[in-house]
Amino acid sequence: PLIPVILSGGAGTRLWPLSRQSHPKPFLRLPDGETLLQKTLHRALALPEVTRFLTVTNREYYFQNRDVYAQVPGAAEREAFFLLEPVGRNTAPAIAAAALQAEALVGPEATLLVLPADHLVQDQAAFATAVARARRLAEEGYLVTFGITPAWPETGYGYIESGEALTRSGDILGFAVRRFVEKPDAATAAAFLAQGDYTWNSGMFCFRADAFLSALARHQPQVSEDTRAAWSEGRCETDFRELTPAFAQVTDISVDYAVMEHAERVAVVPGDFGWSDIGSWTSFGALIPEDGSGNRVLGESVLEDAQHCIVHSADRLTALLGVEDLIVVDTPDALLVARKDRDQDVKRIVAELRHRG
Ligand code: GDD
Ligand code: MG
Repeated sequence: PLIPVILSGGAGTRLWPLSRQSHPKPFLRLPDGETLLQKTLHRALALPEVTRFLTVTNREYYFQNRDVYAQVPGAAEREAFFLLEPVGRNTAPAIAAAALQAEALVGPEATLLVLPADHLVQDQAAFATAVARARRLAEEGYLVTFGITPAWPETGYGYIESGEALTRSGDILGFAVRRFVEKPDAATAAAFLAQGDYTWNSGMFCFRADAFLSALARHQPQVSEDTRAAWSEGRCETDFRELTPAFAQVTDISVDYAVMEHAERVAVVPGDFGWSDIGSWTSFGALIPEDGSGNRVLGESVLEDAQHCIVHSADRLTALLGVEDLIVVDTPDALLVARKDRDQDVKRIVAELRHRG
């Protein structure tokens, strides 16, 4: 069986004020009315041989997660298990806890499919094909990544350089990874695009629990040990386990820096399945159909002589007059007005708010 692991932890600061600490990105409602978390579970459960799934989340979001899952068809027939973090320590410890739990529930050969709870995949059939290929490589002991054809020199992603094809019984399942580079600078990213052979790391992974745990023990022994302690001493009930408060002392490090950049047997399965991490208001806006003037509008609004704006109006009317290339997001307690080309900097507002406390 395949065990999906849903990572439902991060905040999604570039989608402020809609996404925030108390209402993070997985719970964000898309223009079609569904949340990213709901879509993620749905996508996972549509795969073959999924009888149980794990969720790693902050304990603060436990009930919110459960409420969302209750709306997903087929969820009630699967065994859901939650790993509850007292605080987030980034993806390496979160995935390690999931791998330990999968080993305990199923055995060391348990194959995990790690899925961030805040990504969008628009082509389920292509996704399922990629996962089937990844599984076969994972069963051989590979740590498998999913590579997306890069569309621009993004500096917020990981880049994967492909090497030799991994052909099994006549099918190319994927490629050996020559190099994994997490979040390169702009010049390096541009050079990768010019060179070809590079894909974006989608942030989804597939591997056997034992393969991941031994790579982590090798490259980050302290993270491995500390996570194991916080996991094994945590209170465990039938469908959840609380990591101990000592989890707060585990090094904050992502799986990309901790493992993927250093591990030996890493493979990439390319897959153009309509992936997006909805990382900014521009990518959120792309989900809303354009009007005749290039505006993408959600909620009640009046636009006069406005062009190429993204408007999200939650509770009351928003009116725009004679403006262009703006992002306007109104919520009951905060209003964002930004130039569209500054969409990546919205996180600076969140940082400033945190700084003020
Ligand atoms: N449970 C839990 N706990 N989940 C977490 C934590 C944590 O401490 N930290 C992050 N996550 C979840 C986030 O909610 C998100 O769904 C996913 O793990 C990835 O974390 P991000 O913080 O969004 O990572 P990133 O965007 O900087 O980079 C990753 O994703 C890119 C693609 O979107 C990397 O894997 C990059 O290589 C990749 O290109
Ligand atoms: Mg992300």
